[in-house]
Formats: sequence, structure tokens, C-alpha cells
Amino acid sequence: MLPPVLTIDGPSGSGKGTIVQLVAQKLGWHMLDSGALYRLVAFGSQNNQLSLNNEDDIADYASNLDVEFKLFNVKPVAEKGQHSQELRIILEGNVVGVELRTEATGNAASKVAAMPKVRQALFQRQRDFRQNPGLVADGRDMGTTIFPDAKVKVFLTASAEERAQRRYKQLKDKGISGNLAALLRDINERDERDSQRSASPLKPAEDAVIIDTSDLSIEQVVEQVLAICKKGFDV
Ligand code: DC
Repeated sequence: MLPPVLTIDGPSGSGKGTIVQLVAQKLGWHMLDSGALYRLVAFGSQNNQLSLNNEDDIADYASNLDVEFKLFNVKPVAEKGQHSQELRIILEGNVVGVELRTEATGNAASKVAAMPKVRQALFQRQRDFRQNPGLVADGRDMGTTIFPDAKVKVFLTASAEERAQRRYKQLKDKGISGNLAALLRDINERDERDSQRSASPLKPAEDAVIIDTSDLSIEQVVEQVLAICKKGFDV
């Protein structure tokens, strides 16, 4: 039997990243950040002087993407004698971090993600993350295209204004300055591109549970997702 999968899809800023991490930790399952793969393809292609207008070249780069996701033990948690873990992404031998999360890389990722050949090139790589004891998959098309047979599917949404606010705060916390109006415009443009494209557009799977996170805390969303998992899986 294939390992269980929980898919969590939704637009950027819906709180997916944090929720997925916390839920995966609670369940003790693996995690797939599929957005990071599109960001890596965009970032790496640009570093290798490939034109973002050449779908064949980008798809070829995506098929041969040389990336490793490694968990490192970082701060010791004294009372439990455990270590908290941090995910490091290694692209072509170099650790990549904050450069993957910039607005510029996000916008470039949204362009390469609209290319059907690039999506096809990353299809099997994403499915390979499905391993025991289970997988929490974060993206836009996890429930519709990559894992249509997932037993539990969640779709997170939030208003564009709320998402722009969250993004603004996130950037500020990282010491990156942002402009709220520009962030809102970018979010609207990216939503439009992600939901209008013909290849795997952003939309909830028919059997997904939709949660609007605009007025919910992270803890409340995690609680709701875990309650849905309890019903859907035997966890
Ligand atoms: O979730 P994110 O912001 O890291 O995603 C970066 C871009 O990749 C975003 O524009 C949407 C796109 N993406 C996608 O098309 N399909 C996915 N499964 C994940 C992300």
C-alpha cells in the first residue's frame, strides 16, 4: 500500500508554509515544499544564464535539477534532550536560503511554474517524496494533479489584503524591507497567473476541505487540520 498523503494547497500568504511544517512535525511525517522546487528552477536557471522565455531550456534544467534537501540538527532543546531540526536546501553544491524567498525569485518561479514542460519535468520528483510513515505536501496542485488519490486534502485561503499584510510582516522580521501596496499588487498578479494558467491552475480539488485563515490564528488552523486528519487517517 502507498504511504498516506495529506495535501495542503492554496495561494501564497495563506499561511501554508508554517501550517504544513507544524502539522508534519505533529504527525512525524515527511514534508514536500513544492513551491521551493519551482523557486529553485527559476533561481538556478537565472544563475546559469538561461532565458526565462525558453521553456525547453528551463524544462531541461528542471529535469536535471541538482538539489538536496537535508535536515540538520540545530539548537538543543534542553529539557527534552532533543535537537530542533532545520531544513537546508543545497543547489549545485551551495546552500541556498534567503535568496530563494525574495519577491523577485517568487515572481520568476510563478513564470516557470506556468510552463507545462517544467511541471512535467518535476512531476515524478514530487511523487518520490511519498514515503513512510507519510507525507504532508504543500503546493498549488498537490490534491488535483500530483497526489489526486490523497485521502485527506485541505485548501487554505485568505483575503489578498490579509496575505499582503502577512508577507509584509514576514519580510520585516527577516530584515527585508517591503512596500505594502507593491506586495498587494504582486499577490494579485501572481494569483491571476497561478489560477488562469492552463497547466494545473490553482484551484481546490473537488474533495478538498476549504479553510479561510483570514481571521484564524496559526494554532487554530493547525488544530482544524489535525482534526480533519484524525477523521481521514487513523492518526
Ligand atoms: O508557494 P511558493 O510561493 O513558494 O511558490 C512559488 C511559485 O510556484 C508560485 O508562483 C506558485 C508556483 N507553484 C506552483 O505552480 N505549483 C506548486 N505546486 C507550487 C508552487
